[in-house]
Amino acid sequence: MKSELQLQLAVAVLAVATSMFTGYAVSQTVPQSLASPENFASIADTEARSAAMFTELGKVLTHPRCMNCHPAGDRPRQGDESRLHQPPVMRGADGHGLPAMRCSICHKHANFEPGRMPGHPEWHLAPREMAWEGKTVAEICAQLKDPARNGGRKVEELIHHIGEDTLVGWGWAPGAGRSPAPGTQKQAGALVEAWVKTGAACPAQ
Ligand code: HEC
Ligand code: HEC
Repeated sequence: MKSELQLQLAVAVLAVATSMFTGYAVSQTVPQSLASPENFASIADTEARSAAMFTELGKVLTHPRCMNCHPAGDRPRQGDESRLHQPPVMRGADGHGLPAMRCSICHKHANFEPGRMPGHPEWHLAPREMAWEGKTVAEICAQLKDPARNGGRKVEELIHHIGEDTLVGWGWAPGAGRSPAPGTQKQAGALVEAWVKTGAACPAQ
């Protein structure tokens, strides 16, 4: 009898806690969707179809979840409005921060919800040559195809990197208070694959 009461109490506490979190979630922006490669089937010209699929992928690349870690300067950005990182931190020689202010001091292996802290074992800033901030989708496209600015990758490798890399994947599971990147990581990977297979054409702008 007593334990049943305890159980009821526990359920009540859980219900209140859950409703609190739900309230939080509702205040977030509605997740954006992402078109699939099939949605572009009506574009007969292969090059135009390829470029259109990259434009769609651009919704992901220019989203704050990705852009905040691919900034133009030496400081990461935070939140859906991409404000400069507080406290001030710098990229340092290896993107993991200055010796006295390493990213891993605060960013742990996983998101820490009570502190709204994003986390991942490899949490660090993308190299300067991979900066996307302030660039058009066409400019980002050219940059992704340039081995001098893409970490020496072949475009084929982007299929795996965007579709399966777990640091990139954080963008779709960023924790409360941050809107996730459009669609799913799998959908983004499918778009990259279709883009590569149609010749990896870049949009005009
Ligand atoms: C002293 C603690 C601290 C250090 C060191 C630190 N961060 Fe942060 N970082 C935070 C906090 C706290 C947040 C969450 C703030 C918020 O969104 O309100 C955050 C958020 C971020 C975000 C925002 C994610 C998003 O899309 O909203 C990025 C990107 C980021 N940090 C990158 C870095 C990088 C890269 C480094 C190392 C160069 C670093 N941080 C070092 C405390 C820190
Ligand atoms: C916590 C920081 C962080 C976040 C968040 C992040 N990236 Fe990156 N990104 C990096 C780092 C670091 C590298 C360099 C890794 C390497 O070259 O191995 C990188 C490299 C890349 C590259 C290769 C760059 C090139 O020019 O070929 C792509 C593509 C990429 N990221 C996509 C994304 C996408 C898409 C998102 C959002 C869904 C994202 N990233 C979010 C840190 C981040």
